[in-house]
Amino acid sequence: MGLQNMILMTFIVASIVIQHGNCRVGYHHHHHHHHHHHHHHHHLKNNSNLNDYGFVKRNETHFILNGKVHYVNGFNSYWLMYEASDPSTTINVTSVFKEASKIGLNVARTWAFSDGGYRALQISPGSYDENVFKGLDLVVSEAGKNGVRLILSLVNNWNDFGGKNKYVQWAKDKGQDLKNDDDFYTNPTVKQYYKDHIKAVLTRNNSISGILYKDDPSIFAWELINEPRSKTDYTGKSIQDWVSEMGAYVKSIDGNHLLEIGLEGFYGESIPEKKKFNPGYQVGTDFISNNQIPQIDFATIHLYPDQWVASGGQEAQDAFVDKWVQAHIQDSNDILKKPILISEFGKSTKSIGYSVEKRDIYFQNIYKAIYNSASNGGPCAGGLFWQLLTKGMDNLKDGYEVIFEESPSTTNVISHQSEIMLKL
Ligand SMILES: *[C@@H]1O[C@H](CO)[C@@H](O)[C@H](O)[C@H]1NC(C)=O
Ligand SMILES: *[C@@H]1O[C@H](CO)[C@@H](O)[C@H](O)[C@H]1NC(C)=O
Ligand SMILES: *[C@@H]1O[C@H](CO)[C@@H](O)[C@H](O)[C@H]1NC(C)=O
Ligand SMILES: *[C@@H]1O[C@H](CO)[C@@H](O)[C@H](O)[C@H]1NC(C)=O
Repeated sequence: MGLQNMILMTFIVASIVIQHGNCRVGYHHHHHHHHHHHHHHHHLKNNSNLNDYGFVKRNETHFILNGKVHYVNGFNSYWLMYEASDPSTTINVTSVFKEASKIGLNVARTWAFSDGGYRALQISPGSYDENVFKGLDLVVSEAGKNGVRLILSLVNNWNDFGGKNKYVQWAKDKGQDLKNDDDFYTNPTVKQYYKDHIKAVLTRNNSISGILYKDDPSIFAWELINEPRSKTDYTGKSIQDWVSEMGAYVKSIDGNHLLEIGLEGFYGESIPEKKKFNPGYQVGTDFISNNQIPQIDFATIHLYPDQWVASGGQEAQDAFVDKWVQAHIQDSNDILKKPILISEFGKSTKSIGYSVEKRDIYFQNIYKAIYNSASNGGPCAGGLFWQLLTKGMDNLKDGYEVIFEESPSTTNVISHQSEIMLKL
C-alpha cells in the first residue's frame, strides 16, 4: 500500500531533524495512500528449522512443500530492514517474528529495497550500504529461525523508499531524456539499473548464515514491484513487457524461488468485460495477461475499499470486497491455473465508523473466503494483513496497524485462521 511509509518518513524526517538540525529530505505523500492467549494452544508443528523443510514450490493452483499442499497465513511489515539495520531498533524485528510465530503466522511480506534517501540500501545505482544489507540479512535469518518465510519486494511503484521515481531520477542525472516515472518500465538504462538490483539482492551472501539469498528456503517468493501502475499506458503493454523481461531475468538467476508481480489486481484490456470488477478505473495493469506470463508463479490482490470506493458507503464497500475477492479467485482457478494470495488487506482506525469489532468482522470475512477456497481445493492459499507492529513502535502507526498486545480480539481472529489453515 502507499500510505504506509509516510508515517515512517515522518519519523525519519524527525530523526534527521534531530540528528542534523535541518531537514534535507523532501518525501511526498502520494495519492493514498496481549499478551498471547496461552489458553489458546494450537498444535503447530515445530518448523523453527526451516532449512530442513525446503523450498515452497507450485503445482497448478497449489503451493507445495515437501510433497504436500501448503497454506499461508501471513502479515505485512514493510519496515523490517530499516529497523534491523540499527542495533538500537533491531529488537523490534526479533520481537515481531517471535510474536508472529507464536500465533502460527508463516509468511511475512517486506521491502528488499530502499533506493536513495535516508538509510538507503541502494545509495546510488549499484552502490549498496553494507550496514543496511546486514540489516536485511538479519531479517532473513530471523524469519527462518522463527518458521516464517518472506516475500521480498524488489522496488516500489510509489515514491516511498525511492521507488520508480528514484530510478528515473538516477537515469536523468546520467543525461537520459525521460519524461515521467513510467519511463521506469521502458527505458533501457533504468531497466538495467533495476536488473542490477535484482542481481545484487538474489546473489547476496547472507553475512549471518553464509547462505546466498537465492539458495535460502526461508524466502517464500520474490515480488517484482509493490503495486505497479502506469498513468501513461492504460493498454497495459509497457507493464506486460516489463514483467516478461524482469520475470525471465529473475528466473535466469534463481530457479529455486517462486515469483509474483506485486499486483493489486486491477483488470485491463485482455478481457474487457472483467473491468466491471474494478473500482471504477484501471491502472495500466492486467490481472489476467500479466499473471499469464510463464515466469509468474502465483497471483496477488490487494484491497482497500475505504480508499478505492470511499464515496460508496459501507454497503457498497462490502459488496465491492466480496466481488473483488471472488472474481480473482475464480480467474486464478479457471484462467490462470495458478495459486493466489490476498497479499494486502486491512482496516484503518481512521476509516469512517471504525471499531475494533468492525475490523475483526472484516478480517473474518476475508479469512472465510480464503478458507472456503482452500478447503475446497481452490487456488486461494492465504492472506497477509496490513500491517503488524510490535509494541513501542507508535512512530510507525499508520491506522492499519495490528499490535497483538493491544488488540486481543483481532489477535484471536488471526490466530484462529492460522490454526485452521495449518490443519488443512
Ligand atoms: C523447535 O525445535 C528446535 C530444535 O529442535 C528447538 O531448539 C526449539 O526450542 C523448538 N521450538 C519450539 C517452539 O518448540
Ligand atoms: C499436481 O496437481 C495435479 C492436478 O491437481 C495432480 O494430479 C498431481 O498429482 C499433482 N502433483 C503433485 C506432485 O502433487
Ligand atoms: C558465503 O560466505 C561464507 C562466509 O564468508 C563463505 O564460507 C561461503 O563460501 C560464501 N558462499 C559463496 C557461495 O560464496
Ligand atoms: C524500536 O524499538 C526501540 C526499543 O524498544 C524503540 O525505542 C523504538 O522507538 C522502536 N522503533 C520505532 C520505529 O518505533
